[in-house]
Amino acid sequence: MNILYYNENNFLSLEKTDLSEFSNTVETPFYIYSSEEIRRNCETVLERSGPFDLFPCYAVKANYNPAILKIVLEKGFGADVVSSGELYFALKAGFSPEKIMFAGVGKTEAEMRYAIEQGIHSLNIESESELKLLVKIAGEMKLTDPVRAALRVNPDVDPQTHPYISTGLKSNKFGIAGDKAFDLFLNYRRNQNLSLSGIHVHIGSQISSPEPYLETAAYLHKFVMDLRKKNVEIEFLDLGGGIGINYEQQIDGSGTDKTYLNNILNPFLEKLKELQIPLFIELGRSLVGSAGLLVTKILYIKKTPHKTFYIVDAGMNNLIRPSLYDAHHQIIPLHKTDSREIKVDVVGPVCESSDFLAKDRLLPELKEGDYLAVTGAGAYGQVQSSNYNLRPIIAEYLIEKEEIKTIHRRQRIEDIAAQYTW
Ligand code: LLP
Repeated sequence: MNILYYNENNFLSLEKTDLSEFSNTVETPFYIYSSEEIRRNCETVLERSGPFDLFPCYAVKANYNPAILKIVLEKGFGADVVSSGELYFALKAGFSPEKIMFAGVGKTEAEMRYAIEQGIHSLNIESESELKLLVKIAGEMKLTDPVRAALRVNPDVDPQTHPYISTGLKSNKFGIAGDKAFDLFLNYRRNQNLSLSGIHVHIGSQISSPEPYLETAAYLHKFVMDLRKKNVEIEFLDLGGGIGINYEQQIDGSGTDKTYLNNILNPFLEKLKELQIPLFIELGRSLVGSAGLLVTKILYIKKTPHKTFYIVDAGMNNLIRPSLYDAHHQIIPLHKTDSREIKVDVVGPVCESSDFLAKDRLLPELKEGDYLAVTGAGAYGQVQSSNYNLRPIIAEYLIEKEEIKTIHRRQRIEDIAAQYTW
């Protein structure tokens, strides 16, 4: 059954919650998530992991709300973190350190020390300078076991996605070029404080076709085989994440593939299976993206000779994806009527012309006070929000077994003010 549908009275429901009824009782805008959808997405991955030696991890950056971390943790996922803050949240949520990988181009010395002290699975290293610093720290820390690390290689593969979320091209800041990484594996293999035993790759995000992954798999396959010829044995491959979701979710539809997991994951893993090396993946959007909605209210409708604007109470401060990546998020009314469709811009209250949720979008003719839901907002939504224009970070709710839980209370202006020197 679809988790998002219009009920018999034409009100949008998430799981069994009538969102209009709920919206009347709380302050808008807000994020609301379906725990069932997150579980289903996790299960899709687990069902596919059967033939592979696969360790699925959750990319915490997609949505670090502790309640969401706990759902993926319950499903047996590890965590991929990119800052000491994310590591702190992952540990506090209960992830065991051996299931945590730490990535990122700019880890500080303090972050590396913290990660090593906590005994995480591995650090993914992105430059020779960072590798040298890790060796120095590991030496100073007098560890009983060497620190496990992977080198993130840059395969120069085009992920065919928005340039701001492409990471595997040689023009991107991420990873180490193949020949350079190859030399580092040879040079550092006998270091007593370091076990440089993994390869990490992550080519980009919101990828919707298998081809870039197949190209990456072929690249990794050759890389590992070339290292084997030099007697360097790789002990794990961390394949990153990036699998896209369908942002045009079918409401009331059935059997639609909301994420591209089904057609991407298997062929990718299949290509690497014969290497017989444990495989890690770090999925963010494909686990939580389809589970979240941003609910907002139309404050004003402004008609000019050129445009109709639905001015809503959520803006780029809440969901920056449309402004930043020109991302398309489906927007639907909480109450479906048979009014005609008109072309509108859905814009927020922030003082920027880039503050829009949709442009030239066909939406039903609505009235002030009506609610809208922005779908596909579970990943990179709330976590990328800001206090711009001094707007508080909004509340997050989770539907769990027909109950709605507050999993993040709305920030108060006093909370923000308290951080300043007056
Ligand atoms: N692993 C690494 C090393 C990453 O950098 C990322 C995402 C992931 C895994 C998870 O990727 P996912 O499965 O979620 O695509 N803010 C952008 C997306 C940035 C992704 C950054 N890295 C957006 O809203 O589209």
